[in-house]
Amino acid sequence: MVIRTAKFVASYPRVEKSPISSNPEYAFIGRSNVGKSSLINMLTCTKALAKVSQTPGKTQLINHFLINNEWNLVDLPGYGYAKVSKTDRKSFSDIITNYILKRENLYLLFVLIDSRLEPQQIDLDFVNWLGAHQIPFALIFTKTDKVSSGTLQANIDAFRAEMLSTWEELPQIFTSSSITRTGREDILQYIDVINKNTKINQLECAEKI
Ligand code: GTP
Ligand code: MG
Repeated sequence: MVIRTAKFVASYPRVEKSPISSNPEYAFIGRSNVGKSSLINMLTCTKALAKVSQTPGKTQLINHFLINNEWNLVDLPGYGYAKVSKTDRKSFSDIITNYILKRENLYLLFVLIDSRLEPQQIDLDFVNWLGAHQIPFALIFTKTDKVSSGTLQANIDAFRAEMLSTWEELPQIFTSSSITRTGREDILQYIDVINKNTKINQLECAEKI
């Protein structure tokens, strides 16, 4: 897929305040600092569309972007950052859970996992929570430029093994690096296929009406 345009729409503190949209929407979630905002910039070939920071907890709002005037990307606050105050931590998770449960045009959530780490309980808890609420998601193992291919495979296998103890089927798994641009084509292609299927479904529905 060619990215022709990528525009920042707005940032909102709550899903109820977010603009209603019928575009297919894809959101990025994961632990603070895992690389969500960097990945959005890498996918859209922009330097600072989404704000990146070395300090965890940078993204604190729901940030909406419009791509090719057809579909939406959303940059969400991270979860699991221990240094924010308890009140903030609670509101982070409210922002995230409300958005995920209430956003009607959310087609797919990309859950980002740091490829340098062995399975983290908080990520497993999060994907299990998604499963309990039947939220469609895919996994992206990030920062692959920082890890050897052996460690990358071992960490992915360990995460898959953890999931298979409770899941019958595993989600789609991608790897990415915002530095080397690994994963860009695969992730955009995946989004493109979903977008095209949506269009076909909409046309079929329109014909029936
Ligand atoms: P929060 O908004 O705080 O939750 O963080 P985030 O998940 O949006 O992470 P962000 O994109 O701000 O990146 C955090 C840090 O990791 C920054 O210093 C980035 O430059 C760095 N980073 C992100 N992706 C990559 C990557 O693929 N490779 C390397 N080497 N560094 C990365
Ligand atoms: Mg961010």
